[in-house]
Amino acid sequence: MPEAVEDRQRLSAIAHATSLMWGPISQDTADGLLARLGSLGISESSRVLDLGCGPAELLRRVCEATGASGIGVDSSPFAIEEARRRLATSPVRDRVELRIGDATVLTPDGTNDLVICIGPGWTTGGWVPMTRWTSAFVRPGGLLLLGEAAWRGVPREDSLATLEMTSDEHILGADVGRSVSEAGAKVAWSHRSSLDEWGAYADAYRSAMRHFVLDHPDDPITPAVRSRSEAGWVHYELLHELLDFVIVLAQRASRA
Ligand SMILES: C[S@@+](CC[C@H](N)C(=O)[O-])C[C@H]1O[C@@H](n2cnc3c(N)ncnc32)[C@H](O)[C@@H]1O
Repeated sequence: MPEAVEDRQRLSAIAHATSLMWGPISQDTADGLLARLGSLGISESSRVLDLGCGPAELLRRVCEATGASGIGVDSSPFAIEEARRRLATSPVRDRVELRIGDATVLTPDGTNDLVICIGPGWTTGGWVPMTRWTSAFVRPGGLLLLGEAAWRGVPREDSLATLEMTSDEHILGADVGRSVSEAGAKVAWSHRSSLDEWGAYADAYRSAMRHFVLDHPDDPITPAVRSRSEAGWVHYELLHELLDFVIVLAQRASRA
């Protein structure tokens, strides 16, 4: 039986309980990104929108580092609860608004200075549609910070069969920059998560699930958490072998 959306969202929050960001992005990578955004003109007067913000770690830190104000949207109430917890003691708590909602139904207003969209599972349409969609929320000449998976290399047929995936579900990591440019944005910087970043992320993810199982034996979600951290883990290991996680900082063209 497919997992209910709420179970999936809660499971993700449980697995990410000790993760800085909800993806394979290290503290060093996040620090490098923040430094770059300051040098690209994000400042006190800037507006930042984070679509699928998760715990809104990056959104909050961008606002803390630059004085910008921001809005974070996520469809998971568990993600927004964690984002609110992290924001509660921040000096920018009055400059950041967090909303539970489906980002795909928002009306793009083309006014933000920076739009962040990192790791949302809904972008199966790929890098070109994601770049076009997020560009509609940013002003001409504004910045996009996008993150999504891409194949490390051409995946083998037997690996795809094991994962019940098809090769057209992702593009090659080497083709991401070209796809973003094709969608009308100029790439300023990009990063492919290192194997160390993937390793640290996967270790924290699995260990958080194992701790949850030990601490909550009677919770109705515990069998699903146990299954993902034990038998189901083979699936995740194979996925991580095949997939890169790519982050791109790009500038929307000045004229549409
Ligand atoms: C892999 S997490 C990444 C979170 C965050 N961007 C980060 O990097 O830490 C993807 C997030 O996208 C959210 N999401 C997925 N579909 C969404 C939708 N249609 N609208 C809003 N948020 C969505 C999920 O709930 C999840 O929190």
